[in-house]
Amino acid sequence: MASHKITLALILFLTLFTYSNARLGPIKETELTVYFQDYSSGPNATVIECPPPSSGLNFSTFGAMFCADDPITEGFEDSSALIARGRGLNVISSLDGSSAHVMLSIVFIGGKYNGSSIEIYGNDPRTGYREVPVVGGTGKFRLARGYATFETLNFDPVRSHATIRSNLTVLHY
Ligand SMILES: *[C@@H]1O[C@H](CO)[C@@H](O)[C@H](O)[C@H]1NC(C)=O
Ligand SMILES: *[C@@H]1O[C@H](CO)[C@@H](O)[C@H](O)[C@H]1NC(C)=O
Ligand SMILES: *[C@@H]1O[C@H](CO)[C@@H](O)[C@H](O)[C@H]1NC(C)=O
Ligand SMILES: *[C@@H]1O[C@H](CO)[C@@H](O)[C@H](O)[C@H]1NC(C)=O
Repeated sequence: MASHKITLALILFLTLFTYSNARLGPIKETELTVYFQDYSSGPNATVIECPPPSSGLNFSTFGAMFCADDPITEGFEDSSALIARGRGLNVISSLDGSSAHVMLSIVFIGGKYNGSSIEIYGNDPRTGYREVPVVGGTGKFRLARGYATFETLNFDPVRSHATIRSNLTVLHY
C-alpha cells in the first residue's frame, strides 16, 4: 500500500516536472553586441558619484560609488539607434582601486528586445577586457544566465565620453 502511494507521488511529481519543462520550452542562446554611451561630466552626465563628490570623480578610490543611466545604442556612434538604458551601480570594491563591483540592468526600450531586461552582476577587474556574469533577466530573457564582456573602445576627454562595447552571451527560455 505504502509503495503504491510512493509510486503515485512519483508519477505526480514527474508529470508536474515534465509539464513545467514543457511550459518553459527549450533553452535558447542569444548573442548580442551593444554599446554603452557613458558621459561622466557636464550638464548631461549619465554617470555620477553618489553621494556627490567634494572634488572631481575619482574612479580609483575604495568605496567610491557611481550611479549610471547610460544610453545604449545599436552601433558604435552615439547617434545610432537607442535600444536600451544601462542603469545601475558601480562600487570600487578593492582596497587598491583595481576592481569594481557591478550591479547593472540593461533595460531595453527599443528594437526587438523592447520591454525585456538583462541583469549583470559581479566583479569587474577593470582591465582592458572585462567579463561580468549575467545572472537573470525579464521578458525575452527570463531565467537568463551567461556572461557579458566590456571593452572601452574610445574615450573623448573633451566630452568625457566613453564608448564601451558589450558582447553578451545569454542562455534563456
Ligand atoms: C544637454 O542636453 C540638452 C537637451 O537634450 C541639449 O540641448 C544640450 O545641448 C546638451 N548639452 C551638452 C553640453 O551636450
Ligand atoms: C584618486 O584616488 C587615488 C586613491 O585614493 C589616488 O591615489 C589618486 O591620486 C586620486 N586621483 C585624483 C586625480 O585625485
Ligand atoms: C517599446 O515598448 C513600449 C511599451 O510597450 C512602447 O510604448 C514603445 O513605443 C516601444 N518603443 C519602441 C521604440 O518600439
Ligand atoms: C565583441 O564582438 C566583436 C564583434 O562582434 C568582436 O570583434 C570583439 O572581439 C568581441 N569582443 C570580445 C571581448 O570578445
